Amino acid sequence: MANPKEAAGREAAELVEGGMRVGLGTGSTVAFTLAGLGERIAKEGLVMSGVPTSIDTRQRALELGIPLVTLEEVERLDLTIDGADEIDGQFQMIKGGGGALLREKVVASISERVAIVVGRDKVVERLGVSFLLPVEVAPFALPTVARELRGMGCDPVLRLDGPSEPFLTDNANHIFDCRFPGGITDAKALERELASVPGIVESGLFIGLAHTALIGAEDGSVTVTHRGD
Ligand code: 5RP
Repeated sequence: MANPKEAAGREAAELVEGGMRVGLGTGSTVAFTLAGLGERIAKEGLVMSGVPTSIDTRQRALELGIPLVTLEEVERLDLTIDGADEIDGQFQMIKGGGGALLREKVVASISERVAIVVGRDKVVERLGVSFLLPVEVAPFALPTVARELRGMGCDPVLRLDGPSEPFLTDNANHIFDCRFPGGITDAKALERELASVPGIVESGLFIGLAHTALIGAEDGSVTVTHRGD
């Protein structure tokens, strides 16, 4: 049996063309894309540069010999390749399982194209039924944001790192993982509502950002679909 994440992640590495500036997502599926890019750079002499969306991805990219640039050096990116925790038929997504949602959304927002790499199990009918929605919060605002979130009908759980320490994002914020009973009915409206709460830095709802999905299966095949297909 093949690894669906590896199949999708490696296939996405083939989307990168010479000279491209590429947003490098975060997670175990994108790790296969990074490996593929590292191989293409070494074997084919592929010329590209990447903007990493996390400290972890930055480290992996450096180890694989992928040249990196910063947001000071690039205004737009040709392509971003990233994973997702859930993706629905409209290419709406929940991201942030790895805690990199803020940088991932910034990078996706300046990309001409965003390709999402997932295993088949991440494709859902409705967001938020099985995966909790990550919401990144400034530490000072944890109590006020928790009250606001409860008022929106969700049950926020502070993400921990170990038995009792709150998880810290790369931006030194915390994360509430939010359970919406029955799932999220209007993801677009919820994203806007969350963005209006002082103290919420970013939500893991990614709406209208993905263009292409590469969906890996257990037999090693990859289905490529485009938004609006
Ligand atoms: C990190 C993310 C990841 O892309 C998402 O959690 C998917 O990770 P994986 O590929 O390991 O399943 O959003 O913030």
